[in-house]
Amino acid sequence: MRRIRINGRRQLKGLIPISGAKNAVLKLMAAALMAPGESVIHNVPHIQDVFTMVDLLKTLGVGVQFEENTLRLAVGEQIGEEAPHELVRKMRASIQVMGPLLGRLGRVRVSLPGGCAIGERPIDFHLKGFKQLGAQIREEHGYIYAEVKELRGVDIQLDYPSVGATENLMMAAALAKGTTQIRNAAREPEIIEVQNFLNQMGARIRGAGTDVIRIDGVETLHPAEHTVIPDRIEAGTYMVAGAIAGGEVTLQPVIPQHVSSLIAKLEEAGIEVSVEDDKITVYSTGSYRAVNFQSLPYPGFPTDLLPQVMAMMTLAKGTSVIRETVYTNRYKHVSELRRMGANIILADRSAVVQGVSALSGAEVVVPDLRAGAALVLAGLGAHGTTIVEDDGHLDRGYDNLVGKLQGVGAEIGFLE
Ligand code: EPZ
Repeated sequence: MRRIRINGRRQLKGLIPISGAKNAVLKLMAAALMAPGESVIHNVPHIQDVFTMVDLLKTLGVGVQFEENTLRLAVGEQIGEEAPHELVRKMRASIQVMGPLLGRLGRVRVSLPGGCAIGERPIDFHLKGFKQLGAQIREEHGYIYAEVKELRGVDIQLDYPSVGATENLMMAAALAKGTTQIRNAAREPEIIEVQNFLNQMGARIRGAGTDVIRIDGVETLHPAEHTVIPDRIEAGTYMVAGAIAGGEVTLQPVIPQHVSSLIAKLEEAGIEVSVEDDKITVYSTGSYRAVNFQSLPYPGFPTDLLPQVMAMMTLAKGTSVIRETVYTNRYKHVSELRRMGANIILADRSAVVQGVSALSGAEVVVPDLRAGAALVLAGLGAHGTTIVEDDGHLDRGYDNLVGKLQGVGAEIGFLE
């Protein structure tokens, strides 16, 4: 358990460096399994989920070197076929090795991921797609067993634009016989990253970023080298920090298009946002209007930024209506925000936030990754001292969060 102490209401000023995208790099690491040899990934963030994926790759026999922000993955001719329970329960993204192992070996065993703080998060869309590609699937003792002689290309219509299912099926289909089309595919930027990396490995994939992805299967893939795009959720988190705390915060590198829905919402709230190449600057007086929004699959407003903008709305002028459409429980931080004086009414997946004139610092506990970020942001805007108790959630997705905020003048640090 680590305790972060924040003395609120300090204006922020300066540049925050943005790290590589967590939700891209985890999938590229899984994709590397598909080709014997050494793949290299640059701009890898130092976050717990990457360390967990490194552990998983090591249990599958991959040699891993992680220096600075470069990962060298030495994948052997022989690789394992099981993602064990102790790693899958730590990180749901472990299931992203299913597509690669099914494609390369024709068999895979993965512990069924449990739910997590934000919802039960089943993997039925993944399994349905694997079956359509010809795999036999059975569930036993909490594990999923998938086997296939040869994956065969097929037309897949996803019930929902699931990010993980789109990626898992793309990877399996890359080594299938024939052509696969994935319709109603997720359109997140991280999907394009997976397409680009697989194509660098010799795959033949087109359409990522749209709702129809076409994969022409190939016989084999070879290792590749790739630099990961900046993390749009990390960048969005710090944009909201600047809005709440007031001042002038610049983020770099960032791909502005990837946070366009947040930029629109901040401007609607009366915050000034300037965009220049791979830089975004947020100018704020700390005073802004309430706005309404709902989370949606990309390019809609991202669910992973909903808790952060909710924290911002607790201090807005007016009332904000917020609706979560992706997960069943994105509000585990609400009770903690209320302890800081926030006025929030919950009704199923919706929240009504009545802006208050001030939040007061309090001791709060982090329930999950993005809720934790929301509590840190609330602390930046609160009067007095906020102590954020975090049992490793923040480190899963933010590389040096405390240091990056210190770098722009936040009075934040670890309590020994
Ligand atoms: C990815 O999760 C991200 N994680 C999540 O970010 C992000 O919130 C999510 O996409 C949506 O953008 C990674 O990329 C590692 P989904 P994923 O499949 O792939 C339901 C963060 O904080 N569903 O698009 O698991 C599911 O329960 C994390 O960085 C099924 O019902 O998301 C959820 O309600 C949190 N059956 C919805 O679909 C399935 O087979 C969206 O899930 C798969 C998903």
